Amino acid sequence: MNDYTGKTAITFGVFDLLHFGHFELFRRIRELVGENGKVYVMLQIDEMIEKYKPGCKSVYDFATRQKMIETLRTVDKAIPYDVVGIDAVKDLDFNILVVGPEHTNERFQRLFKWCSENGKDVVTLPRTEGISTTKLKAIIKDL
Ligand code: CTP
Repeated sequence: MNDYTGKTAITFGVFDLLHFGHFELFRRIRELVGENGKVYVMLQIDEMIEKYKPGCKSVYDFATRQKMIETLRTVDKAIPYDVVGIDAVKDLDFNILVVGPEHTNERFQRLFKWCSENGKDVVTLPRTEGISTTKLKAIIKDL
């Protein structure tokens, strides 16, 4: 693995019901870039969530999700985006795009290509086993 100390990393998501898997993701990204690096979380705006994940309504609105994420000391900043793609990142100064293993769709593929053409590394981190927002919602529903 390259040395990313002091670099700026970005990652994409909705991060609605924050859970241990999300905390672990941010912790691992912080571990990659170190205390001198930057961790930017690209946070999808409310209007686009259901469009890209049909049937998925968020519990918290954008402003609340942003506040919660920016409370974490592993994260520097949460930045709004509408759709995963080049437009969302082209004006951002960053070095690494961190993704999960599920981020394989065409939009991500196009973004990976743009990253490799523009000197940005793509790092895939494993998911934390046994937890997801979907699972949490199901558990809560059955309580
Ligand atoms: N993530 C993770 N470990 C988990 C759950 C999510 O590392 N157990 C990571 C994903 O790989 C992704 C980011 O967290 O990079 C955002 O994922 P998101 O889709 O918001 O979380 P999920 O819990 O998977 O949500 P859902 O169940 O709605 O798909």
